[in-house]
Amino acid sequence: MSPPSFDLSSKVAIVTGAVGLLGKQHCRALRSAGAHVVVADVSLEGARAFAAELDGEPFSGLEKPRVLAVGVDVTKKPSLEAARESILDAFARIDVLVNNAAINDMFESPQAGAELSKFENYPLELWQRSLDVNVTGVFLASQVLGTPMAKAKRGSIINVASTYGLVGPDQSIYKRPDGTQSFYKSASYPATKGAVLNFTRFLAAYWGHLNVRVNSLCPGGIENHQDAYFLENYAKKTPLGRMGKSDEMGGAIVFMASDASSYMTGSTVVVDGGWTAW
Ligand SMILES: NC(=O)c1ccc[n+]([C@@H]2O[C@H](COP(=O)([O-])OP(=O)(O)OC[C@H]3O[C@@H](n4cnc5c(N)ncnc54)[C@H](O)[C@@H]3O)[C@@H](O)[C@H]2O)c1
Repeated sequence: MSPPSFDLSSKVAIVTGAVGLLGKQHCRALRSAGAHVVVADVSLEGARAFAAELDGEPFSGLEKPRVLAVGVDVTKKPSLEAARESILDAFARIDVLVNNAAINDMFESPQAGAELSKFENYPLELWQRSLDVNVTGVFLASQVLGTPMAKAKRGSIINVASTYGLVGPDQSIYKRPDGTQSFYKSASYPATKGAVLNFTRFLAAYWGHLNVRVNSLCPGGIENHQDAYFLENYAKKTPLGRMGKSDEMGGAIVFMASDASSYMTGSTVVVDGGWTAW
């Protein structure tokens, strides 16, 4: 029996939201497995800068993969269609799509955040914007960039959800040591991430006969300069006793993108330090 293949040489992998905290690391992981990487982000400038950085990083394989930057807004079909044309012009194929782009609420000030993130006050516009990027964006990118995969009868789509797609937020972890609430994790994030999990099952069932596999990744919270009290609150709720590091999703991404997971579709890979285990 030959060992499972994690090799992505000559494959073309697109990562949306590629310039963010996790997107960059997904790109690095896919490139390290040999894939040509399309750095796709709503910020074209950011995508170009990161693509140049990635291209300059060492590569240990035989043939150095290529890196392409594209500006794309996942909520806009024409933008995705233009990106698809540039990608097909450059590589003539698409093998992997990581639907990673998503938004978390941003508030003008901590005071505004504490008030507006309360469910009772949560603005409809923020709810709708989250649905737009986090759910419609995954639907549209899968439709526009996944259809060439379905035509070619091969491919892997990875939808990035969250532990908050599986369980509701425990608002107590956002409490400061003096007992005041810094903010509430709002209603839209778990609602959109839960939707991503079931959209994944829909598409896996729909494109299974065309050999396009569709799976979800649920990362736990990732360390990113949070306040010390928050890190402590988070650690207490996690069997491994800490938040994740941004490069700790790479193994799951390469597994799900490659033939190592050839019989897996409609499934959810949870990489959360055990957050959802108890
Ligand atoms: N960071 C975490 O703790 C964490 C935990 C669980 C799940 N996740 C999920 O992982 C993914 C990446 O998270 P992150 O923390 O790296 O986010 P991030 O905010 O650092 O990056 C998001 C990226 O998406 C891009 N983007 C936003 N709107 C877009 C649009 N309309 N079209 C294209 N690109 C757009 C942004 O420019 C940005 O580069 C998200 O799906 C997020 O929900 C993150």
